[in-house]
Amino acid sequence: MQAITVLPMQAGSARLDKVDEPPLQDGDLLVQTLAVGICGTDLEISQGEYGWAPPGRDRLVLGHESLGRVLEAPTGSDLQPGDLVVGIVRRPDPEPCASCAAGEWDMCRNGRYTEHGIKQLDGFMRERYRIDPSFAVKVDPALEQTGVLLEPTSVVAKAWDHIERIAARAVWRPRVVLVTGAGPIGLLAALLGVQRGLEVHVLDRVTAGPKPALVADLGAAYHTGTVADAVGHADIILECTGVGELVLDAMDKASPDGIVCLTGVSSPGRTIAIDANALNRELVLENELVFGTVNANRRHYQAAATALAAADPSWLERLITRRVPLGRWSDALQRRPDDVKAVIDLTG
Ligand code: BGC
Repeated sequence: MQAITVLPMQAGSARLDKVDEPPLQDGDLLVQTLAVGICGTDLEISQGEYGWAPPGRDRLVLGHESLGRVLEAPTGSDLQPGDLVVGIVRRPDPEPCASCAAGEWDMCRNGRYTEHGIKQLDGFMRERYRIDPSFAVKVDPALEQTGVLLEPTSVVAKAWDHIERIAARAVWRPRVVLVTGAGPIGLLAALLGVQRGLEVHVLDRVTAGPKPALVADLGAAYHTGTVADAVGHADIILECTGVGELVLDAMDKASPDGIVCLTGVSSPGRTIAIDANALNRELVLENELVFGTVNANRRHYQAAATALAAADPSWLERLITRRVPLGRWSDALQRRPDDVKAVIDLTG
């Protein structure tokens, strides 16, 4: 069958390959892949900056944002042939650490977790895969093709879960939210903020393309320029760009007792001069909390499914700005100025 594979840490190595049918030992659920979303992590892997092949192999099947249809399900499982499913990206470490043992592999303590399409486990950019049913999440058929947004939504569902747990430290309730970056993660983070009844501001660089209207149609405010231009102070800041300067600006704009949630994976190697003492002084004197978050566990996939089901389906469809057939897969790995989410369609 066909698959997109890469040689991790080797730029430009991605290719449309022929790979074996998934082995039975991968799991009792056989899934036909319908679509796979592309995110910054896939671009980094294809540019040779990230990723690990499965043990004993050179190449890794790419793809971790999936939507598939069940072809074969074991008897007694909640899943039936024909159901739409999304594969959970991360697997617990073999030890397992305290977090992985409790099903919180997103909080793995020893780094020995594996991830489909990223770290030592083949991804979903192949026509079929097998998986243990406990690592597949059923998708509401009403979501149709937008079910491919479940994985990135799970990442922001985790971010919100942790923000809310942190916010519980104070007696007051946050009201104003700033999201930096109107990419898929930023827009989905804004969606979940609006669903919580909060006042949401989104900051991005672009003035044209689909992003301003996507933000406005959520009922949030779209801003360009600096963090200071966007909002005076925000109770919660979701930083979704990973751009160092913005991260620091965001910290500066958090309100007293404010929470800054970092979701963007930056590329290291560039130095910015900062007054570390002034920053520390502000964090301390204002009880500010800056934290990072990555990945998601099953609870977050379920929360994401609920959030997507409550969203306007046409708004979700507009997030998917490009659908590329498998035969033109390499187009999907080229970022275009008006892209929000590019998706590879494995059925075409
Ligand atoms: C994925 C996460 C993953 C992270 C780090 C992200 O793109 O959505 O599931 O944990 O990359 O590998």
